[in-house]
Amino acid sequence: MNTDVLKSIASAMVAKGKGILAADESHGTCKKRFDALGIECDEESRRQYRQMLITAPGVEEFLGGIILFDETIRQFADDGSRFVDVLNEKGIIPGIKVDTGAKDLALHPGEKVTEGLDGLRERLAEYRSIGARFAKWRAVITIDAEKKLPTDACLWANAHALARYAALCQEAEIVPIVEPEVLMDGFHSLETCEEVTGRTLEIVFQDLNHQGVYLPGIVLKPSMVLSGANCPDQADIETVAQATVRTLKKYVPADVPGCAFLSGGQSAEVATAHLNAMNTMEDVPWNLTFSYGRAIQQPALKKWAEAPDANVALAQAILLDRCRANGLATRGEAGE
Ligand code: 13P
Repeated sequence: MNTDVLKSIASAMVAKGKGILAADESHGTCKKRFDALGIECDEESRRQYRQMLITAPGVEEFLGGIILFDETIRQFADDGSRFVDVLNEKGIIPGIKVDTGAKDLALHPGEKVTEGLDGLRERLAEYRSIGARFAKWRAVITIDAEKKLPTDACLWANAHALARYAALCQEAEIVPIVEPEVLMDGFHSLETCEEVTGRTLEIVFQDLNHQGVYLPGIVLKPSMVLSGANCPDQADIETVAQATVRTLKKYVPADVPGCAFLSGGQSAEVATAHLNAMNTMEDVPWNLTFSYGRAIQQPALKKWAEAPDANVALAQAILLDRCRANGLATRGEAGE
């Protein structure tokens, strides 16, 4: 394992003022988002949409990396250059989603385990040769108090897969984004989310240590500690920020260079406000930044979908606005 290379890639991905754009939606997820806006979802429309994102002028000031899907990392811009080369020229590190999705966990109704370890060593070698320098694997954890979820079986199975994925990435000189997402769906309170997020992170770091993963060469992609989406009592911005940082401080070692949050269904503005509030707090040992998908893309996608040929520049301006707001939020300066 080349620890120097891993450390320098990970640090660049979460450099102060920068975050990561998640644009790695699977075909199914992309279709859902396009369908909702009346856009055909095929290889060419996905290419055009991702081209709009990747070539947006100015976003490189706020993005250290962009996560791509298998199809996208092999695609070309209209001018014939590879998307990967467009990103490298802008100084944005190309990344790749390598898990193959969350599947039902055997004997545990309502819970998922993320798959994709078989053949991963070979896939990583290929992705590195194409130009990927980091990867992503997302585990999903469901909270359901009535059904007593999550179970330990779910937490351990997902943590083990994340740790084996991370080890394989580091062997291949690829920085693993380790993403244990505690879903915000449900009626649970912020306190329950805090307890589950803590338990999840504790087990994830135990397993990363068991597998010998080099922590300065990873990026953690956690969910924020939030009230469940259907909980009548919604915690305010400051409470979420404090609960999230408190939980990370308990379970995330200080030698992890950065925590890049997912947005998980929060609106674009709320996701920015939460990140901003966390970055006004003292004594935080890691860079706290964003690795948002929907909270960055959704407003730009909406504009683009109105007229995919005519609205490219307008959509790119909206994308840049979101990137700038989140870049400022990594310094606690959004909205000032
Ligand atoms: P959201 O920010 O839309 O949750 O997406 C982030 C992501 O990459 C989920 O894996």
